[in-house]
Amino acid sequence: MEPVLILLVMLAGVSHAFFPAGETKCNATQITSQCSVTLGGSVYIQLMTNASGQHLRCKKKLTTGSINVFSLKKEKVTIQHPYKNRTEFFINSGTLKITKVERNDSGQYSVDVFDPNGVILRTINVELDVQENILHILIPVCSAVGVLLIVVVTVCACRKVRRRKKTGK
Ligand SMILES: *[C@@H]1O[C@H](CO)[C@@H](O)[C@H](O)[C@H]1NC(C)=O
Ligand SMILES: *[C@@H]1O[C@H](CO)[C@@H](O)[C@H](O)[C@H]1NC(C)=O
Ligand SMILES: *[C@@H]1O[C@H](CO)[C@@H](O)[C@H](O)[C@H]1NC(C)=O
Repeated sequence: MEPVLILLVMLAGVSHAFFPAGETKCNATQITSQCSVTLGGSVYIQLMTNASGQHLRCKKKLTTGSINVFSLKKEKVTIQHPYKNRTEFFINSGTLKITKVERNDSGQYSVDVFDPNGVILRTINVELDVQENILHILIPVCSAVGVLLIVVVTVCACRKVRRRKKTGK
């Protein structure tokens, strides 16, 4: 069974290289929205048409409370730790971009919009739903089954030929 496992891992790598998880665009300008993205892909979440001059704070809900994702104040975007190297916020389009989406990026995000006095004007909620890229499972499994079939057929054919040779003599 081991060679089959190695083959599966190799084929999974190949299918990741040839069928990369794509980009998803979500319109989250409403009070609540839902957004489905593929694991490993990128997502653009538009929260508002223009965030220039806005004061925002985006949080992600966890069972134990919440973590900060990013904040915008005085035209300065601050991305928080777990999102640091794979997240951007585009002020002029009010769009949050997350690349290399991970399984535990799934969940409820909320964006508080503050007035100049720091009072919450409104809150935008987005539910992010991270899904497996089905091709990344199907292609390696189908290929492995195919290769296994070829091996079985070849082994059977060889045995038959050998048997025929023996009886032929
Ligand atoms: C998102 O939806 C809002 C409100 O329905 C709309 O004004 C805006 O143009 C949409 N954005 C995109 C990129 O489609
Ligand atoms: C966004 O809003 C700011 C301030 O209200 C304005 O100066 C800017 O031109 C707007 N940008 C776009 C792309 O609409
Ligand atoms: C982000 O990237 C910088 C430099 O490229 C690196 O030093 C840092 O460890 C990275 N942080 C995370 C959380 O991956």
